[in-house]
Amino acid sequence: MKRTIAELSLKGLTFDLVEFAGDHKVEGEKLFINIGQEPINLMQDEDIVNSLNSRLVNDARFVSRSGIGLEIAATDNSNYDVTSSLKKEIIAKWSRASELFPQVEYFQNLEMYRSPKVDLGLYQANLWYLEASSQGRIHKEHDFREIHTQILGLGQMVKYYKPEYDTAYERVFMAPGFTHFEFFDGNRQYPWHSYNAVSDCIWLALERR
Ligand SMILES: [Fe+2]
Repeated sequence: MKRTIAELSLKGLTFDLVEFAGDHKVEGEKLFINIGQEPINLMQDEDIVNSLNSRLVNDARFVSRSGIGLEIAATDNSNYDVTSSLKKEIIAKWSRASELFPQVEYFQNLEMYRSPKVDLGLYQANLWYLEASSQGRIHKEHDFREIHTQILGLGQMVKYYKPEYDTAYERVFMAPGFTHFEFFDGNRQYPWHSYNAVSDCIWLALERR
């Protein structure tokens, strides 16, 4: 069964929740994220999409008896850029980080927006937008386990030795369809980290408490 998630979808960028009961066929090119706990087969038994892994697939077939996934279609943008019409819609519909967190001075001059949050069972999900050539805030405090999937644009997840941009010790490039590995340890402790945008970016945050 497939249903569109209205809170996350924009014109030309559709988010569907897929609840498996056997075969699920993907027509055209789509981004798929396994947000269940069990592996899901792709095309054949040998190809497996593990929990919290994502794939960019074309005319593909997923198989699972009870899995759950997110299917994302960028219907008018095969280069996976944030188009000017998408950016206009985001500014009109989403919340600016400076309004969500008025106490955080760093956000006041940052072109960063967040979509509504939606409950997807195990995970809370929302989308973020960050303008090209800008750096998200360095932080490490979370009361949830988070991972991110790049939807449009090119970004980086960067880790820091201290909460200062010139102490970066690792960067993970984020390209459309890619989900980064977990940054937190077994005690849900994170290193200092930030999301930095190379081009205009949209990424999905999945949070589990
Ligand atoms: Fe974070």
